Amino acid sequence: MTDTALDRLRARCADQPPRIAVVLGSGWGGLTARLQDAERIPYAELPGFPVSTVAGHDGALWLGRLGAHRLAVMSGRKHVYETGEADGMKLPLRTLRALGCEVLVQTNAAGSLQPAMPPGSLMAISDHLNLSQRSPLVGEAGSERFVSMVDAYDPALRQHAQTIAQSLGTPLHEGVFAWFLGPQFETPAEIRMMQGFGADAVGMSTVPETIIARHAGMRVLALSLLTNMAAGLSNEQLSHAHTLAQAQAAGDTAGDLLAAILSTLPLS
Ligand code: HPA
Repeated sequence: MTDTALDRLRARCADQPPRIAVVLGSGWGGLTARLQDAERIPYAELPGFPVSTVAGHDGALWLGRLGAHRLAVMSGRKHVYETGEADGMKLPLRTLRALGCEVLVQTNAAGSLQPAMPPGSLMAISDHLNLSQRSPLVGEAGSERFVSMVDAYDPALRQHAQTIAQSLGTPLHEGVFAWFLGPQFETPAEIRMMQGFGADAVGMSTVPETIIARHAGMRVLALSLLTNMAAGLSNEQLSHAHTLAQAQAAGDTAGDLLAAILSTLPLS
């Protein structure tokens, strides 16, 4: 008999499976405190879920409720820079899809290329640049691997996020997110190149998960918390500690917005 992460999760919530999967990045962890009927399952209990090597990143799946919706919340993700493998989130996301999640809501911390988005700003990702040119779908068989990336970030979900942000009085920018592999930060020359390429924000995550989710037929909403101006655009020293400190400072606003968006998310 197999004992997969899916078996274990089904045993816990088969009667009321989650319909929304959430991935929490730096600064967004406050969401878990807002969950109702919350249950925390360490990734170590879910075969194939990622054990993170990054300070400040948790490693647990939370099951819980916000409003009428049941959620599966991944607090902690596998980054491609940890191993060089682009498919570290494939098993967890496909498991949540099989469990019943039809939407993936992602969050991250990112660097800003826009003076109008200073540290502490929030941005809904409207499109991405896969600068790393890595794909979690390498090695997949079948024609489904040629997945369209047009409207990869669902326009209707983005519109919903904007409506909620406006009702809360929280500015929510929109922009293009460029994925750099990391773990080193970008050079100022790379950021100047990105300005020419039309990027509004840069980060080291999110794009592989979006590709996995689209391939699995999930709709995607992704939100960035801008923790710093990107390299060369300010005098700040970039560091992981700086990212975490800025993320924590903006965490309440981000958590409130995310909880409000999720509790009323339109599902089909
Ligand atoms: N670059 C890449 N990743 C990041 C940044 C950045 O400036 N800030 C937070 N995550």
